[in-house]
Amino acid sequence: MNDNILSLDPKSLSQPDLHNYLLTSIAPRPIALASTIDSNGNVNLSPFSFFNVFSSNPPILIISPARSGRDNTTKHTYQNVKDVGEVVINIVNYPIVEQMSLSSTAYAKGVNEFDKAGFTQVKSIHISPPRVGESPVSLECRVRSIDELGSQGGAGNLIICEVVMVHINQEYITHGKLDTTKLDLVGRMGESWYVRATGEALFEIPKPLRTQGIGIDNLPLPIRESTFLTGNQLARMGNVEATPTQEQIDKVRPLLITNTDKDIHQLIGSYLDKDEVSTALALAFTQV
Ligand SMILES: Cc1cc2nc3c(=O)[nH]c(=O)nc-3n(C[C@H](O)[C@H](O)[C@H](O)COP(=O)(O)O)c2cc1C
Repeated sequence: MNDNILSLDPKSLSQPDLHNYLLTSIAPRPIALASTIDSNGNVNLSPFSFFNVFSSNPPILIISPARSGRDNTTKHTYQNVKDVGEVVINIVNYPIVEQMSLSSTAYAKGVNEFDKAGFTQVKSIHISPPRVGESPVSLECRVRSIDELGSQGGAGNLIICEVVMVHINQEYITHGKLDTTKLDLVGRMGESWYVRATGEALFEIPKPLRTQGIGIDNLPLPIRESTFLTGNQLARMGNVEATPTQEQIDKVRPLLITNTDKDIHQLIGSYLDKDEVSTALALAFTQV
């Protein structure tokens, strides 16, 4: 139990403080570079990190251009989507991150941020707004609904859109699949921080077993209460399908050269780090 917790009623906080707590903790967020047009055909391009996919059948994305916390104005993207009902969501990766940031400048209505940020306009197939030629993936979308969440500064506007066309730069495809390790995506963190999904920042976790793992609650008590093993390490053992047999437990016993909890738990940890989970689990069950 951690007693170093600050518990806050959102109603007691100023809008900028609450904004900061939420946006710094709910991160990293993917970035949608949204291309829209107004009813006169003027093109607009702006980034939004209130963005995600919420369904693949039908394919649904949501972005939220919020009312300004400073002066309560609405974003051009929101006005365009309300008027025209179409948007291209362009995915942002590291090679275009600074151009994306430049496109977030509050240029006057009618100014085309493709030009300001040096992006190439490419004609869409099903809708009127153009896509960003430099994006690894662009999604042509029709707007299904708009939910205005409030009327004060900081209020979001949920734009729910359905993808009608997907464009993928084949440079990012390996064996017919979009390749996470090649995409070099970026995410928005709090304030002006970003994160880059590349190299050592990427890691895989084996999916939980369909057949169901034993769960941390079935590990021996001294292991569950270990101050040397982490929650991640316990979860890796909890993802094993069955508790070890007596034979498996007896087989690993000679590995226990000392008897202190610290040594035993660190030995279990070292087998987990080497991905030898069944040995680690058998060692854990010597502690029943
Ligand atoms: C990475 C990034 C993410 C952003 N995410 C949002 C967002 O989710 N919602 C929002 O209202 N503004 C967001 N902004 C700010 C808008 O991009 C900015 O207000 C922009 O000028 C709006 O342009 P528009 O009025 O042409 O639509 C973000 C800016 C950056 C750089």
